[in-house]
Amino acid sequence: MLALFKSRSSEDSCDPVARVDDLWFRYGEEYVLKGISLQIRKRELVLVLGPNGSGKSTFLKVLAGILKPVRGYASLCGRDITSLSDADLARLVGYVHQNPWLYMFNSKVFDEISFVARNLGIDNSTITKNVLDIATKLDIIDLLDRSPFSLSEGEARRVVLASALIHKPPLLLLDEPTAGLDYGLKKRFIDIINKINNLLETAIVIATHDTDIITMLPKAKLLILNEGRIVFRGSIEDVLDNPSIFTKNNLVMPTEVELAQRLGIRWDRATDLDDLLLELDRLRKTLCR
Ligand SMILES: Nc1ncnc2c1ncn2[C@@H]1O[C@H](COP(=O)(O)OP(=O)(O)O)[C@@H](O)[C@H]1O
Ligand SMILES: [Mg+2]
Repeated sequence: MLALFKSRSSEDSCDPVARVDDLWFRYGEEYVLKGISLQIRKRELVLVLGPNGSGKSTFLKVLAGILKPVRGYASLCGRDITSLSDADLARLVGYVHQNPWLYMFNSKVFDEISFVARNLGIDNSTITKNVLDIATKLDIIDLLDRSPFSLSEGEARRVVLASALIHKPPLLLLDEPTAGLDYGLKKRFIDIINKINNLLETAIVIATHDTDIITMLPKAKLLILNEGRIVFRGSIEDVLDNPSIFTKNNLVMPTEVELAQRLGIRWDRATDLDDLLLELDRLRKTLCR
């Protein structure tokens, strides 16, 4: 187990990381996922956008192996997801539920972060080294002795992210990771996601109705899910070329894009909210002259 943790096996750095082909899922009579097909490559960042009830959380749960496809096929690292044991799933996928407190039950942040690694049988010295490593990357080193229940929303989100990444899974799934965060904290959290994506080989799938994330992750591949179907796939430029896609799918325009539009500027990936606010300030001063 130590060897598995130290030098990643070929499976742990597999590519593609996940595939779904014509995936259908239902809880009751009605299908809530209808013919989803997608390939997720190593290091890829995928943003699954959609209004409430469109099937985002259900889709992540299928990728995490929590729900089994009713029709169609899903695989992780080339292996049929329905054939994977709980230990295989724990090793291959880091899954973060939309409520960061839901799975927290340890009395110390350190124990919370190391929980999965301990369950996978990894030895204590490796665990300590890895906790310190991921806590440094996520800027939560000062929180390790704290109770998880004393944390702020932003801190709790970074702690659950650390617990999901402790064993460096090839796939990280984040459900509504910015819920409850204001714009500044959202940006800080998404900057961490960008950093993780650059530093680790992990592919990251984020399910969200928060379109502000789009401008914060300009490299991401975007998917829009509506009523269980993928209704759009493309890059940030593709989606902004087609702005009616937001209203058509009950989504709001990203704040930065809307602000740019109101200033008569076309948003592109070099645009920064601070630049826009400076421009706004310049215009205000011109008016007040
Ligand atoms: N455990 C469940 N049992 C029955 N229906 C569910 C359950 N979870 C979700 N649903 C239904 O499935 C659909 C998709 O839900 P969900 O995947 O949570 O969407 P989203 O995450 O996009 O808000 C919704 O109509 C929702 O009411
Ligand atoms: Mg959801």
